[in-house]
Amino acid sequence: MPLRRDDVTFLAWHTRPLQQAQAWATAAVLHLRAMSQLILGIESSCDETGVALVQMPADGSVPVLLSHALHSQIEMHRAYGGVVPELASRDHIRRVLPLTQQVLESAGKTLQDVDVVAFTRGPGLAGALLVGAGVACALGAALDRPVLGVHHLEGHLLSPFLSADPPEFPFIALLVSGGHTQLMRVDGVGRYAILGETIDDAAGEAFDKSAKVMGLPYPGGPILSNLAQDGNPEAFALPRPLLHSGDLDFSFAGLKTAVLTQAKKLGDDLEARKADLAASTQAAIVDVLVKKTLNALKQTGMQRVVVAGGVGANQRLRAQLNDACAKRKIRVHYPELHLCTDNGAMIAMAAAMRIQAGQQQPSKTYAFDVKPRWPLDAIVETAHA
Ligand code: KG4
Ligand code: ZN
Repeated sequence: MPLRRDDVTFLAWHTRPLQQAQAWATAAVLHLRAMSQLILGIESSCDETGVALVQMPADGSVPVLLSHALHSQIEMHRAYGGVVPELASRDHIRRVLPLTQQVLESAGKTLQDVDVVAFTRGPGLAGALLVGAGVACALGAALDRPVLGVHHLEGHLLSPFLSADPPEFPFIALLVSGGHTQLMRVDGVGRYAILGETIDDAAGEAFDKSAKVMGLPYPGGPILSNLAQDGNPEAFALPRPLLHSGDLDFSFAGLKTAVLTQAKKLGDDLEARKADLAASTQAAIVDVLVKKTLNALKQTGMQRVVVAGGVGANQRLRAQLNDACAKRKIRVHYPELHLCTDNGAMIAMAAAMRIQAGQQQPSKTYAFDVKPRWPLDAIVETAHA
């Protein structure tokens, strides 16, 4: 039966609110989508070129990693026994754009979809930082998108938010990288209070220098820790510097000297006892890190701890800290194993979280003023400093 004019008017009248509601819902979704931002993150502070894409939801929920790609320069630097800054910069130049293409393709995005370009502003090697910053600013200017310079350590600190089990604020953070060892109270993004730090070498440096003394190749930390699996951690009585100092500071320079003395004493036997020496060195470093972290938890009454930075990949550290914290009903969070060392995902994530928290807005000034030396205190939200 054909519809009469009255029927059409009746239908139109009664379906109008429905259509209107649908239109509003569609507009709201489009608006939300428009507000959600795609962050491209570039890390180039040392010997890894990392690029990643993170989607920052408009509703303030935890940003999501869409894709990331990494090129490690370990093979290139190995022949020199350590990072050669000039070679590092040149290699970043070669890698950064192909890696960018790779993350865009694997996320099904194009450069035009990128809303903000984030890069590591410091600390790190000046030349290496300049590559990431320069490329980020050039992309930003060409696309007419704002850029944001990120503190490398804040990237590490917030990297556990990329894991399947993200932490909640507040927490104690043990930041253990190649250049830094710090215990921090973290109350939110940009709300960091340093409780203790190393007065000389960092934990990663202690691993690397001890490995070198033992004749292990670069990068020392992971190689020493692999070798330690076959050794006896109690074979050599090595010092645990500042273990009972009562404060939350660290000192690892003396440990390296003790390892050197022990290696010399062993002489020709070093080769046969290397695994034992590696295991004993690792045990000394881990004992101090675990004890000081427990002290920080006790002093602050915090119930949650986050471990970040390259040394956070160490299995003995994870096992001992997990054990100690389980006994005290304290939650421990780590970044995913492959995101413990330097990567672009943590830089994109830190940028997204800073924007969401209203700590910093990206800008179109494109001044790539990198900061090779940049204490984390410098970015602490002033109201809480
Ligand atoms: O955070 P990261 O990648 O770079 C910096 O920002 O410094 O940390 C690198 C440090 C190096 O000292 C490296 O030897 C150490 O982390 N590292 C490890 C392990 N994996 C990386 N140390 C001990 N055990 C590991 N499995
Ligand atoms: Zn790092």
